[in-house]
Amino acid sequence: MTFHTQILTLYPEMFPGLLGASLAGKALEQGLWSCEAINMRDFATDRHRSVDDTPAGGGAGMVLRADILGKAVDFATDNIAAKIRSSRAQSRDAGDTQGVSTSSQSDEVYPEHVEGLDTNGEAPIIALTPRGTPLTQARVREIASGPGVTLLCGRFEGFDERIFEARDIEEVSIGDYILSGGEVAATVLLDACIRLLPGVMGASSSGDDESFETGLLEYPHYTRPVEWEGRTIPEVLRSGDHAKIAAWRREQAEAITRLRRPDLWERHGGASDRSPSGAQRQKKENGK
Ligand code: ADE
Repeated sequence: MTFHTQILTLYPEMFPGLLGASLAGKALEQGLWSCEAINMRDFATDRHRSVDDTPAGGGAGMVLRADILGKAVDFATDNIAAKIRSSRAQSRDAGDTQGVSTSSQSDEVYPEHVEGLDTNGEAPIIALTPRGTPLTQARVREIASGPGVTLLCGRFEGFDERIFEARDIEEVSIGDYILSGGEVAATVLLDACIRLLPGVMGASSSGDDESFETGLLEYPHYTRPVEWEGRTIPEVLRSGDHAKIAAWRREQAEAITRLRRPDLWERHGGASDRSPSGAQRQKKENGK
């Protein structure tokens, strides 16, 4: 079933953008996901098509108007619901039991995962903002397992707060830095979702070994040539001993996580007897 995405933006020409190439681009062509950029300006009512106004209480910048956003969000909600209905009908007609929706699974199958994902089982509406809940691989997996997503991209100082009170909108951040708008963040979120869609990455798509899936950062990878600029591939990887290789990779993943991401290591329940300096020592031993 197609994963439907909609992006509410002032710059619709930015989409699919990067996602029109490579893996995501191919998947788009194959209909594994759909991408509709909706210009928020189309919902403006004055002849200047203005979408923003000065902040109440004064201060710098401009704020996106709740009345314009409200109309845009309402349009998008109906629009994606129609697409999802049509995809489900199509996959039912095709007897597709692989799709999320089957005759025994009603349109209300999607579980309520977190606040912001609406209870009717439709696609969540997510506003990209630096003050949002940090995006995680777990949330990406939840979004990608649903029928689609609507992304709301801010510009200027942000959104009139009342839009979050009046509509079921989840706020998400992709990191503790400020981008010039939500479009790059939306692209990041979509990329992370699309690669998980069935059929997008083939056999390697389980990604079970990847950073954030195991709770650890990834171990180092090597490929030919065996020697490059005086550096060799660690002996163990050339030993053919799969148990030893697995143990080495595990140790490396743990060392790197301890060193670079003590927060992840802590959450992973890392052994406290091994210090970051131990990890550093291990890295140096490997000639890095
Ligand atoms: N918009 C601006 N900065 C952002 C960030 N860090 N994450 C999500 N959206 C944003």
